[in-house]
Order: sequence, then structure tokens, then C-alpha cells
Amino acid sequence: MPSADIGLIGLAVMGSNLALNIAEKGYTVAVHNRTTGRIVEFVATAREQGLAERVVPEADLGEFIRAIRRPRSVIIMVKAGQPVDDMIEQLLPHLEPGDAILECGNSLYTDTDRRFAYLGGKGIGYLGVGVSGGEEGARHGPSIMVGGSRAQWHNAEPVLTAIAAKFNGEPCVAYLGEGGAGHFVKTIHNGIEYGDMQMIAEVYGVMRDGLGMDPAAAADVFKGWNAGPLNSYLIEITGHVLAAVDAPTGKPLVELILDKAGQKGTGAWSAIAAQQLGVPATAIEGAVAARSLSARKPERVAAEAVYGKRAGGRAEVTLAELEQALLAGKIVSYAQGFAVMAEASRAYGWELPLATIARIWRAGCIIRSRFLDQMAAAYAKGDGGNLLLVPDFVALMRGAHPALRKVVAAGAAGEFPLICLSAALSYFDSYRQAQGTANLIQGQRDFFGAHGFEIEGRGAGLHGTWPATIAG
Ligand code: 6PG
Repeated sequence: MPSADIGLIGLAVMGSNLALNIAEKGYTVAVHNRTTGRIVEFVATAREQGLAERVVPEADLGEFIRAIRRPRSVIIMVKAGQPVDDMIEQLLPHLEPGDAILECGNSLYTDTDRRFAYLGGKGIGYLGVGVSGGEEGARHGPSIMVGGSRAQWHNAEPVLTAIAAKFNGEPCVAYLGEGGAGHFVKTIHNGIEYGDMQMIAEVYGVMRDGLGMDPAAAADVFKGWNAGPLNSYLIEITGHVLAAVDAPTGKPLVELILDKAGQKGTGAWSAIAAQQLGVPATAIEGAVAARSLSARKPERVAAEAVYGKRAGGRAEVTLAELEQALLAGKIVSYAQGFAVMAEASRAYGWELPLATIARIWRAGCIIRSRFLDQMAAAYAKGDGGNLLLVPDFVALMRGAHPALRKVVAAGAAGEFPLICLSAALSYFDSYRQAQGTANLIQGQRDFFGAHGFEIEGRGAGLHGTWPATIAG
């Protein structure tokens, strides 16, 4: 007799924690893993946590599937890419119409679209589920972004609602649309995460190099900021990271960690999606570029040898200005991320619920913050559109952009790299400029390629009588 409410394949850290979370919420979960040793370890952990009675371990894939009540919901938590396709093929012979696969990794949304269509043709539901919150989130309550087969979402909804983070009692889980909608939203979440992290790192750079602050002093500032408008998980953990001391040396840990960071692709996918959709997302793009530049350490070392060390002196900015600059940068970055989702929704026919997305990001996920609660409240009032035009945020931005301007100017004068913050400021200045400079670009395009230009009152597709030859 099938006894499990849901199945889960892939017992690495995220999968194990999700399974324990499910069992803790009173649901019985069948578990399977490619290597049986991992299943044994997982059962031992479940026993230690008093959850073993709601775990059905199965080393055989067929037995695992048969242990799940129909219509089945099977979570797969394996590495994104080919391993997901391989797992789908292994599962297919065992599944029956009406069953569903819930793929919970960080998959490329176009892959999810493809798999959704492929399995739909076989009567099997496919849900691409974005799960944010890291290991702790998976265990105690992540933010869950669901896309794919709507009917099968309803089968899995009680379990996903039970395991999701709660914000003031509201579960941070929602169905966001067909196909790859859930994974797309998770990707943009990560793009915004990149922006937040990069802007924080840039401000840390100004504190360290421009204000001469040691990590402990910077940690105190971030702890203080966490009680204000920047209150968020990422500001909070920044305080902890800066305060950490390396036990063997007694030195601040952050000063021993190499200044090169990796990336797994979601940030770049956000930037690519933004470009493909024709939506400017310069803060996110800047953050991804900065991450890539960080990884090119030998090149940076060589370039410093050529151009010399930063010559600029002290940064003429206050800590209060740095706080406001971060806030302004954050407003721009979120405006861009949400604009990408709005356009994707139109282009892909998803009807992404932007207010709901802000709501389910208020707890559980990596970018959870007070700011998102303000966004959710603004959207709930019906204030849609670009965040920079939403009244509550107009007021915030009016107050904060002068500080961003001052910090970026100090960065340029003092030779501090501020890729993300300066990109945010330039976007803001371009966005609010009614008369831009693309008139010249229209002229250039017509000059070299007869692409035509538009003159108000005279229409589009006009051409200039440019000189046939160019002097010199
Ligand atoms: C989350 C995180 C999570 C993970 C990313 C980090 O929402 O829980 O975003 O998905 O930390 O994979 O990505 P990078 O390795 O690209 O920084």
C-alpha cells in the first residue's frame, strides 16, 4: 500500500533538508538517492530528529514511486542541467498520467519550458519550482516560487504551503504561471540577490579603503543599518561576516578570504533575459560583471602593476550617505528586476503576479527584507508599473538619490570601483531624463545604414541628405 504523501529524490544538503522539513510538518515523504549510502545517512539523521516514522526510504526507484500515493508528486533535487533530463527519463517508465515531477533546483527557465511541454505531451505534470533560502531555508521554511502544471500544483499545494516560510502567518509560496514561470522568477530573485550583494560589497570597499574602517567597525555599522530601512537578511549576515575572527590567526576572517567570488549562472541568466526582453537592468548586469571581474584575479594584479595602486585619498562621504546610497541603489535594482518580470510576463503570456512575488519574498528567501514588505504594500494599493514611479518609492528615491550621487562621485574621484552603484545611478538619471541623446544615434544610424529617423509632426522613416564622403 502506498503510504507516502510525496516523494523526494536527491538527498544532498538541500534535498535532505526539504525532506526533513516535509516530515516535520506531518507529511510522510518517500526518499530516494542514486547512492544508497546517502539514504542510510539520511534515515539516521531523520531518526536523530525524531522524524524517521514519516520517512519511507527506498533504494529501488520503482519501489520508491509505488510508495507514493496517487496522483503522485515527486520532488527532484538534483544538479541543474543534464542530470535533470536524465532523472526525468529514469522516472518516466514508472509514472502514470496525472502524476507530477516537481523540479526544485536552479534550472534555466527555458529548460523548464521544454520539459513542461515534453511531459505534458505524455500526460505527466511538470512543475519548475524555485526554492530560495539556502540550507537553513530548506530545513525551516524557504520561499517557494512555483510554475508549471496548474492541476498538479493543487495536488502538491498543501505540502508546499506547510513547508514554506511564513511572513505574519502568510505562507511564502505561490503558483506564478505555466511552464518556466517559477524558475524565471527564481532567476530574477537571484539577479536581484547579486545586485544587493555587490552594492553592499562596494559600500564595504568605501568603508575599508576610503574611510579607513576595520572590519569590526564596519560590522557595527551594518548591524546598526539592519535596524533601519535597509533591514534585510543580507545586511544582517554582512554584519556577521565582517565581525568573524579567524581562530588560528586572530585576524578578521574577511581579510583572509580571497577577493574572488564564483557564480553558478542564475545572475548571468537574469542579465541575458533582461537583454533579450529589451529591458534595461544595468544594476543586475553590473553586479554580474563585477562578480566575473572578481574572479579574474591574476589579470587585476597585472593591471594594478601597470596602472599603479589607487591614488585617491579619503572618501568625502558620511556613513549616513552610504546608507542612503545603498537604499537608492536598491530601489533601482528592484525596479529593474521587477520590470524584467513584467516584460517577461507579457512576452511569455505568464501573467506574473508582481504583488504576490513581492509578498512571497518577504520571508524565507535570501533577499528577504523590510523593503519587500514596503513593495508588497505599495503593489497591494494598486501601485503597479516601474517601482521608480510608485508614489511611496518616489518619496524614498527623492530623499536617497543625492547621497547615491555623492558616493558615486566620491568613487570616481577617489578611484573606488562602484560598478553596480554607478550603474544604478546612471540608469536613474537616464530614466528620468525626458530629453535624452538618442536623437544623435538616430542620425548616425541613418547616416551609415539609411535606417531612418523620426521627427515629431513629420513622422518616422525619414532620411537625411548626408554628405556622400567624409572628410579626412
Ligand atoms: C537562494 C540562493 C541559492 C544559491 C545560489 C547562489 O535563493 O537560496 O540564491 O539559489 O545561493 O545558487 O548562486 P551563485 O553561486 O551564482 O552565487
